Amino acid sequence: MRVGILGTGSYLPEKVMTNDDLSKFVDTNDEWIRTRTGIRERRIAAENEATSDLAYKAAEKAIENAKIDKNEIDLVIVATMSPDHITPATAAIVQDKLGINAAAFDLSAACTGFVYAFTTGYSFVKSGIYKKVLVIGAETMSRILDWEDRTTCVLFGDGAGAVVLGQIENGGYIASHLVSDGSGAEDVIIPAGGSRNPVSKEEIDKREIYFKMKGSDVFKFAVRAFPETVENVLAQGNTTADDVDMFIPHQANIRIIESIAKRFKQPLDKFYVNLQRYGNTSGASIPLALDEANKEGKLKKGDKVVMVGFGGGLTYGSILLEWSI
Ligand code: ACO
Repeated sequence: MRVGILGTGSYLPEKVMTNDDLSKFVDTNDEWIRTRTGIRERRIAAENEATSDLAYKAAEKAIENAKIDKNEIDLVIVATMSPDHITPATAAIVQDKLGINAAAFDLSAACTGFVYAFTTGYSFVKSGIYKKVLVIGAETMSRILDWEDRTTCVLFGDGAGAVVLGQIENGGYIASHLVSDGSGAEDVIIPAGGSRNPVSKEEIDKREIYFKMKGSDVFKFAVRAFPETVENVLAQGNTTADDVDMFIPHQANIRIIESIAKRFKQPLDKFYVNLQRYGNTSGASIPLALDEANKEGKLKKGDKVVMVGFGGGLTYGSILLEWSI
């Protein structure tokens, strides 16, 4: 039995925040952000929009694209680091919004979340436990960022992407590689608000309830982890970078993607890039890019596709698949 993507979908909040908009309230400028990251603008969720709202809208589109009845979904997985609440799971809220009877849980692996969730969804279908799994990556990063910290707030944006996984005849999933290196846990962290440092006035005053990242350490980690995991899935699939038709990398920084293209001696246009428009949408970035590439007709049946994630945990990983829709 083969397992593959039946449909893709995504959703982006309407509000656009440009680099110039940011420079009005934080000490930064368009030139710095563009040349260091490639980002030009990002989307910001409306006041009444939370992660489950973005996830739900992306899910509806993926279900429509898959041409299935939503009641066929057996399981909803939401990869997110910006859930609606610590509990309940955002996936349960999405399941209710969809009005379906399905199991639901969240998965926390930061920017690698979608790669982990995709592998989990694949495993449920492959094992025969479930027939159709909705895998969503959704983030409202704007709610967890420190808007006074120019080293992080300029980098991220809000959005959601989703896929429906199910049984297919040919192609689909080939290989997956997942890694965690928790020794780097503090490199990407929200220090307070969990059981280690519960929310208190002191933690709020120290701004410890917001997202923090050691940018240059994570950059070095990314340029090491990215090729390692890609080489692993390519070897598992007995294939080479030359045979890959499209890389769908996590959209953190154009300089990371350029360095990997160079490293694998591949043209940059084999790497799907939309970070200039949306910034880093963490767990949403890969399914969002995948859906755009699909809608733009950049993925053809039989194409070899590699999705690559890296980020908080530290985690990283990739998936090799043959495009099947
Ligand atoms: N505007 C203007 N200047 C700035 C800004 C800003 N927004 N931010 C930092 N600077 C300054 C710094 O203060 C520093 O000044 P100094 O030299 O006077 O001290 C200078 O710019 C250079 O700062 P660096 O941090 O060294 O800049 P760098 O080139 O490393 O770029 C960046 C920073 C963009 C964050 C980069 O390191 C990066 O992309 N890292 C990887 C991020 C990533 O991949 N994250 C993915 C995982 S995230 C997740 O899991 C959710």
